[in-house]
Amino acid sequence: MKVLIVGSGGREHAIAAAVAKSSKVEKIYCAPGNAGIAQIAECVPIGAMEFDRLVTFAKEKEIDLTVVGMDDPLVGGIVDAFEAEGLRAFGPRANAAIIEGSKAFSKDLMKKYGIPTASYENFDSAQDALMYLETAKFPIVLKADGLALGKGVLICRDLEEAKTGVRTLMTDRQFGAAGDRIVIEEFMTGREVSVLAFCDGKTVKCMTSAQDHKRAKDGDQGLNTGGMGTFSPSPFYTKEIAEFCEKQIYQPTIDAMAAEGRPFTGVLFTGLMLTGDGVKVLEYNARFGDPEAQVVLPRMKNDIIDVFEACIDGRLDEIDLEFEDNAAVCVVLASDGYPEKYEKGFPITGLERFEGKDDYFCFHAGTRMEDGAIVTNGGRVLGITALGKDLIDAREKAYGATDWVSFANKYMRHDIGKAVDDSL
Ligand code: AMP
Ligand code: GLY
Repeated sequence: MKVLIVGSGGREHAIAAAVAKSSKVEKIYCAPGNAGIAQIAECVPIGAMEFDRLVTFAKEKEIDLTVVGMDDPLVGGIVDAFEAEGLRAFGPRANAAIIEGSKAFSKDLMKKYGIPTASYENFDSAQDALMYLETAKFPIVLKADGLALGKGVLICRDLEEAKTGVRTLMTDRQFGAAGDRIVIEEFMTGREVSVLAFCDGKTVKCMTSAQDHKRAKDGDQGLNTGGMGTFSPSPFYTKEIAEFCEKQIYQPTIDAMAAEGRPFTGVLFTGLMLTGDGVKVLEYNARFGDPEAQVVLPRMKNDIIDVFEACIDGRLDEIDLEFEDNAAVCVVLASDGYPEKYEKGFPITGLERFEGKDDYFCFHAGTRMEDGAIVTNGGRVLGITALGKDLIDAREKAYGATDWVSFANKYMRHDIGKAVDDSL
């Protein structure tokens, strides 16, 4: 079969690598893709939000299945656009992707269906938000309702910071319309875990757990980023916690979406916080995580095409999802200065060292071809993933492999997976 993947980051490279392993797949296209994806797929210069062009392309090339990696097109209705033309696409429709597209929607859903999360209020007016803050407990969390590249969450230590935050989001509209409505939420503390789950509208099958490192600098300092590295599984996500989450969070979420007339098909990504007061949901995403996909998918034993098709056809209950009994660590190599200002266009060397190795992956995030050479083309450039017998082994291997590649400006965190040592 012919598969089209929509997106251009490390997540889409990890999806493409999983799809390439399927014996059912004869050809992979990726729109728009990147220099790494181009080694296993034909990249086509169509943007992820160009639905008409993507649909036309899929018809022309007789694509059997389109897999959407990114949030923007999902929230914007790309799956609806494909389905309207009789094309098969993996991912939630717009009316279900809203679980990521509107934080106020997801908070109201959790409240209505008794799913554990931080207490909160939604605000459409800056004046009301400011008034509420006068009597609030600090620290407190402000969240832009809409998509804001993971940057729309502000943790405010006191009233002054929170007032400034409300102005940034609602008055100055730093994230545009995304901040016209905000959620003000109780501040929680604890370990974070990311759990991705395949869903077919009624059945949920969880993948192995992972943990992201969102801050730019070692020791969780610096600004929030898209993610500087991940490890999988999370030793803190015990069997007991997983059982609790399956009964009290994932299945109730999918049931709630169905009850609301918004059946969720695709990957539901639940960001959890393991607080002293039990497990609570931080957020939902309507897609694979990036870089979570880069540690979860290399550990998956199933043919991913079988799983995608079962989700679309509503027979996920027939699939036995299986993962290797090993561990994976992904260290992101970024451009120094990310997530603020950084330079790009620098040649990358050493990529050939990953060829032919089953336990190492070099997922491309921001790269492109220039005059026959691969150059940096973004804040996050590469995701260096290694598989190991356990997390310590995988971490050693991943950090070892970060030395194999060079480019001017190379920056990484040195403590990805270090939290694991606390669990030993
Ligand atoms: P979100 O996009 O909602 O996952 O938020 C991004 C990050 O902000 C999370 O990964 C947490 O580290 C942090 N965060 C979000 N909500 C809270 C909260 N209620 N309490 C503490 N930290 C939070
Ligand atoms: N790594 C967090 C995300 O994909 O949203």
